[in-house]
Amino acid sequence: MEYSERQLRTPLFTAVVNYAMQKKISFHTPGHKHGDGIPKMFRDFVGSRIFDIDLTLLEEVDSLQDPKTVIKEAQKLAAEAYGADYSFFLVNGTTIGNQAMILSVIKPGEKLIVPRNAHKSVLSGVILSGAVPVYVYPKYDRDLGVICNVTPKQIEEKIIESPDVKAILVTSPTYNGIATDIREIVRVAHQYKKILLVDEAHGPHLKFHPDLPLSAMEGGADMCVQSTHKIISGMTQASMMHARKTVDILKLKRILQLLHTTSPSYILMASLDVARMQMATQGREILSKVITLANLARTEIVEAGLGCFGKEAIGREGIYDVDVTKLTIDTRAAGNSGYEVAKILNKKYGVQIEFAAPTNVLAIMSLGNTKEDINRLVKALKDIKKTFTPNEELIKKINSVKAPEQESEVVLTPREAAFSVTKKIPFKEAIGMVSAELICPYPPGIPVLAPGERITKEVFEYLMYLKNLGNMINGQDDKTLQTVKVVAETKTENSNGLFEADKKAAETKKN
Ligand SMILES: Cc1ncc(COP(=O)(O)O)c(C=O)c1O
Repeated sequence: MEYSERQLRTPLFTAVVNYAMQKKISFHTPGHKHGDGIPKMFRDFVGSRIFDIDLTLLEEVDSLQDPKTVIKEAQKLAAEAYGADYSFFLVNGTTIGNQAMILSVIKPGEKLIVPRNAHKSVLSGVILSGAVPVYVYPKYDRDLGVICNVTPKQIEEKIIESPDVKAILVTSPTYNGIATDIREIVRVAHQYKKILLVDEAHGPHLKFHPDLPLSAMEGGADMCVQSTHKIISGMTQASMMHARKTVDILKLKRILQLLHTTSPSYILMASLDVARMQMATQGREILSKVITLANLARTEIVEAGLGCFGKEAIGREGIYDVDVTKLTIDTRAAGNSGYEVAKILNKKYGVQIEFAAPTNVLAIMSLGNTKEDINRLVKALKDIKKTFTPNEELIKKINSVKAPEQESEVVLTPREAAFSVTKKIPFKEAIGMVSAELICPYPPGIPVLAPGERITKEVFEYLMYLKNLGNMINGQDDKTLQTVKVVAETKTENSNGLFEADKKAAETKKN
């Protein structure tokens, strides 16, 4: 694998270790003082070294809020590795990155195209920014039992419908590894002079192997965020954001300062530095192994009679490319829901998967997985298929779910709904009122109601139909759906005229 020698450098990790080795007497935070103050049970389990690198903002290790030395250099190396103009280390996951991306391009009242099934961190960015979401609905592939990705055509249609949208956010790849045609979406976005943001939480590895889908930065996106901790070797919560000069970098920096803790973990940041070095210098070899193992697992799972889509799914509607390191194992052929299979895998076989859905379980393969892991997983799945009684009734129910044709009416922005005075009322009486909750049935995992949307008779009947089927419905407070939270008033006592201010800002912008 070709790489610049510079990519072997780990300036932040090295500075952190150098500082730790000096064993200085600590009269600074954190309070555990090199771990000496930590209860023994904790220290005995994790070892003592980790506390030596749990530092705080010190001259020798730079500051995330205003990087000037080693963090600055580490972020520059990340930008070089990912083909970005700027990279930023994040210590509150991709969540803070999605929020910052949206806040940096959207003002209250401006429109943002978002996939209807975007992660809740995107919705939180919409709420914080006061964006008016313009939803685009990805297709639910009933045969595969998964939600696909949005297409460039859908994005272009939305732009034509709402020419005043400011920016577009897409998620690629999805949790299940389904990638959209990023290059084409970039072309469409830029043709209409829109900014393209990509939630690439599940794709920090894409750049480093040619058999994986094109990464957001390679495709020309303006900004993207990646959960380094989810797929490669960052510690949990460690993510990265990449950006091009096309965006207002000073504003982005200001917003990251606004959202970030002033005590970022050096353990997390050092892990980002090392994860980048690992991918930039050995990524291709490491990922070749992961891909080979994942494909082997996929073949064996399919031979065992369970579904597990790979590259052959490319070309189905909403599937432009597939990240084969993610194994979506369709459990319907085993006559069980994904939830049931996940439970058995965990309790009986000691195998923990990433998540379960009604139709499948998702197993994420990455750097640390071995052939032995695959053998355990495949053997357990074969065993489950052979020995457990299929629940045909349940599978019939899961397969019969049909989403309503009509898109909901957006009455208030999610921000207005989130800050409004709400009341809980019997669901049936809520028809015609504005939902204050997100209500999302699985399957298909696309919210039927988002905060701020009108509850119609169709939506009510559809949700009751799903509930009677025993379908999982998430997001709302009352899991039984007897009641629902609706907007009572849009101006709250403590909002201090916030919404008026938002509206004025939007009006000023229009004029
Ligand atoms: C698509 C997507 N975006 C964003 C996030 C949030 O990422 P993080 O957990 O790193 O904050 C997730 C988390 O699962 C996700 O699946």
